[in-house]
Amino acid sequence: MTGRVDGKKALITGAAGGLGEAMARMMAREGAKLALTDIDGARAEALAASINAERPGTAFAYAHDVTDEAQWADVVDRAAADMGGLSVLVHNAGIGGTLSPIETCELENWRKVIAVNTDSVFLGTKHAMKHLRQNQPGAIVVISSIAGLLAAPGMGAYNAAKAGAWMVSKTIALECAKQGIDVRCNSVHPAFIKTPILDPFIAMAGGDEAAGHAKLARGIPLGRVGDPDDVAYAVLYLASDESRFVTGIELKIDGGLSAQ
Ligand SMILES: NC(=O)c1ccc[n+]([C@@H]2O[C@H](COP(=O)([O-])OP(=O)(O)OC[C@H]3O[C@@H](n4cnc5c(N)ncnc54)[C@H](O)[C@@H]3O)[C@@H](O)[C@H]2O)c1
Repeated sequence: MTGRVDGKKALITGAAGGLGEAMARMMAREGAKLALTDIDGARAEALAASINAERPGTAFAYAHDVTDEAQWADVVDRAAADMGGLSVLVHNAGIGGTLSPIETCELENWRKVIAVNTDSVFLGTKHAMKHLRQNQPGAIVVISSIAGLLAAPGMGAYNAAKAGAWMVSKTIALECAKQGIDVRCNSVHPAFIKTPILDPFIAMAGGDEAAGHAKLARGIPLGRVGDPDDVAYAVLYLASDESRFVTGIELKIDGGLSAQ
């Protein structure tokens, strides 16, 4: 352990698997205490137990739907009580929703994608702010997507949701700065990273994972899809005091996709 986030108390949403799990394991190795929340509470519990087996007392788990305001109000208080404060909030929970052109996109799907990816950033920040204020220096990291910056056919709901999350992270950054609060807020924009969220793309490649990844990698200048740790390293930096003069930025983890 090198202690890059020693003493930090971090709540990560959607932490049960995928990118959230990679972030949790990396931040635990680097000295943080963790509140792992997920709509799938049992998987969050299992991850916390696995982290605690190596580092007792590090991780706490909570069943938590990020679209529910009452659950947010409750979970930030419980997490702060369990960890002895809350200094980092990672808005990671997200869904891709059903891929479909606007003309055939169901309103229910649209609303769900916006609720999980965008409303959650508003709700969570709103309720966590009182704890972050008490535990400065603090950091908020919003996991947007390269799809929040670049549009693609069939991805209207996700494009809009991740663009909203990107922009509101700048609002949060400026509001904290204006109030003289040392809480920074930045967004992270991954391209294709190997997690279950890529399953619809793999299904389009006939269910062959390697073929699906290879197809996605064709658009990436570095020639591969990303690993969860590629994103976790970015989150670790933005959560740590190493990024103390960095707020309101968008950090692209996209293998060069957006440079073209
Ligand atoms: N993997 C990629 O290629 C990629 C690219 C760009 C952005 N992202 C973003 O990264 C984040 C993590 O995605 P991932 O790739 O690890 O996907 P994932 O599907 O593996 O993980 C998402 C997690 O969020 C949880 N979740 C879903 N709805 C929730 C809700 N209402 N409340 C609480 N938790 C909920 C799920 O249970 C799951 O554990 C998401 O915001 C996603 O949009 C991923």
